[in-house]
Amino acid sequence: MFNSIQLNTSYTSQHHVHVGYEIGNKIAEYLSATFTLKKAVFIVDENVHRLYKDTFIKDISGLFDEPVFCLVPEGEQSKSLALFSEIIAKTLEAKVERITPVIVIGGGVTGDLGGYVAASALRGMPLIHIPTSLLAMVDSSVGGKTGVNHSVGKNLIGSFYEPKAVFTDIKFLETLPQKEIINGLGEVIKYGMIKDENILTTLKSLPLFEPFSYSKEWEQLIGTCARIKSDIVTKDFKESGLREILNFGHTFAHVIERVRGYENSSHGEAVYMGMWGAVKLSNLLGFNIDIANLSAFRTLYDSSFHPQESLEELTNLMLHDKKVKDGSIRVIILEELGKARATGITDLSLIRESWNYIIQEFE
Ligand SMILES: NC(=O)c1ccc[n+]([C@@H]2O[C@H](COP(=O)([O-])OP(=O)(O)OC[C@H]3O[C@@H](n4cnc5c(N)ncnc54)[C@H](O)[C@@H]3O)[C@@H](O)[C@H]2O)c1
Repeated sequence: MFNSIQLNTSYTSQHHVHVGYEIGNKIAEYLSATFTLKKAVFIVDENVHRLYKDTFIKDISGLFDEPVFCLVPEGEQSKSLALFSEIIAKTLEAKVERITPVIVIGGGVTGDLGGYVAASALRGMPLIHIPTSLLAMVDSSVGGKTGVNHSVGKNLIGSFYEPKAVFTDIKFLETLPQKEIINGLGEVIKYGMIKDENILTTLKSLPLFEPFSYSKEWEQLIGTCARIKSDIVTKDFKESGLREILNFGHTFAHVIERVRGYENSSHGEAVYMGMWGAVKLSNLLGFNIDIANLSAFRTLYDSSFHPQESLEELTNLMLHDKKVKDGSIRVIILEELGKARATGITDLSLIRESWNYIIQEFE
């Protein structure tokens, strides 16, 4: 079956995001038409490789005479300069050319790392993303951010590099652990809050607690989220303005992840909690946003937040976030549901009150 939604998402050139179910044939067709089928570098999440090496991965890599495989162990620690340099070495030793495709198959960790390899080796090789986690499908594979972490902080090394194409095969979600579906849903809910409330309506109708099974609604939902991200990114590739609204809930979330420890924290859950703070802040600034839009999904996120830090300390931690401008805390708020904008907050008591709201809800 092939139900691709083709999104014309070029930032500067022809770049498509295809969303569909069982689209292996479509991917094979594209690769055959676009590349000489000599060499290709496959950068693949280890779990995804284990699950799909005899099916999807065999079919796609079998198109090439000399596929080179680089496996990425699961976990954020794989977004490291050490693994980056190992994969670069393997890529260059394979005597690749500038026209050799780099095909990245996995979640956001593999996508960010593999994208950075494609951006860097030979000063840029053609990058094809095949996202396999919900988060990668709706967020990280679209938008061109690539990179690795540094001991000083997350995502501090990298570049903006456009993929040549993104192929989102929803079938991968059938093996994605439920907790990773819920992780990705944090970003899906975010798109509903900042751009399109129909997303929230659709989400409420889906069986979110059951193992993933394909439906047209899921396909449309994922396509809509990818389209929203690519529309925003098209207008602001290097994050100088509009793209900021994608950080709705994230300024709070980054602090939540930091104080809980990244390894104990799901990003999607932190974003979900962070959005409670951002809605409260919007209310405090006089915008009437109904928290019911978020509380409808409260049962998805059952863990609690008991920070040892005081409200003041949590607020101060936000001052260290990358999104601080001129000493004020830059936060994304909603003027109405589906209408977000960035604003600088200098009255820090409003932020403290928003933290208090999060802590009371998630105690
Ligand atoms: N580049 C961007 O714009 C951007 C945006 C958001 C997040 N990110 C980055 O994305 C990363 C998080 O991505 P993620 O949530 O996808 O995590 P991830 O890549 O670690 O994947 C989550 C888990 O799911 C497994 N997995 C993936 N697909 C699977 C499948 N189909 N079947 C079974 N298991 C599967 C992985 O092995 C892993 O254990 C972070 O590093 C974050 O910084 C980047």
